[in-house]
Amino acid sequence: MTAKIISGTETAKAIREELKAEIAELKEKHNVVPGLVTILVGEDPASQSYVTAKNKTAHALGINSKQVTLSADTSEDDLLALIDKYNKDDACNGILVQLPLPKHINEGRVLYAINPVKDVDGFHPVNVGKMVLGEQCFLPCTPHGVLELLIRSGIETSGAEVVVVGRSNIVGKPMVNLMLQKREAGNATVTVCHTRTKDMASHTRRADIIIAAAGVPKMITADMVKEGVVIIDVGVNRIGMSESGKAILVGDVDFDSVKEKAAAITPVPGGVGPMTITMLMKNTVQAARQAAGWI
Ligand code: GUN
Repeated sequence: MTAKIISGTETAKAIREELKAEIAELKEKHNVVPGLVTILVGEDPASQSYVTAKNKTAHALGINSKQVTLSADTSEDDLLALIDKYNKDDACNGILVQLPLPKHINEGRVLYAINPVKDVDGFHPVNVGKMVLGEQCFLPCTPHGVLELLIRSGIETSGAEVVVVGRSNIVGKPMVNLMLQKREAGNATVTVCHTRTKDMASHTRRADIIIAAAGVPKMITADMVKEGVVIIDVGVNRIGMSESGKAILVGDVDFDSVKEKAAAITPVPGGVGPMTITMLMKNTVQAARQAAGWI
């Protein structure tokens, strides 16, 4: 079996076209332009490229997006003051602080400071709590993107054995929660594997769907999966530089060998990555609609 390639690039493109039309209509009918502020602290090259991509996409869709870049030695108080400023700014519907933050800044304190109605990353405990309860909220962008990919690729999750590899706050934990909910792309039987899991292959071999978010290059190999598995690879690992100076990226799954056994698989790059950015745009539009009184 050679796997069907699940293209995040194509799916994201389709959603972005829908959003572009929605944003144009918001402006035309209601004079509402969604506003997003992205805040980057420091010079981590991966974070820089993610934030640049987020702003570029926002502009292309008609979102009023502003990027604020702060030096790595910015104090926590200065960052909190900036968040407070945008919490009070009506033109700003969404605030995103790129993670990870420098070690001297308390991540929890920063994320808690963002007004939950502007928390387009879905990281504030109010949104996390609502997500767990299945209430209307901002869903975190990467897990949200995975759900959309599954739905739009026609992959049945109801009753499926889903194995999530990784337990981060950004991907693993919300992914587990979303996939067990009574909702579209939910109703799965979910197992979560992590660094302390004994015999991970015994779990992954049972999986109908594997969602790999461990941050370990090519960790899932062909001998760890069953024939016909669906693979969603969230990993983006930089393993070097090409001659032209571009980062060489690989996922958490050994794509070349696993694609021979899988029914469907996301590539890296071009899989989950474009979906994450697109769901940020979707959340920003949702925030603008809410701020304008649920138009
Ligand atoms: N760092 C890695 N992924 C993300 C994300 O989805 N949002 C933010 N703010 N930082 C990240």
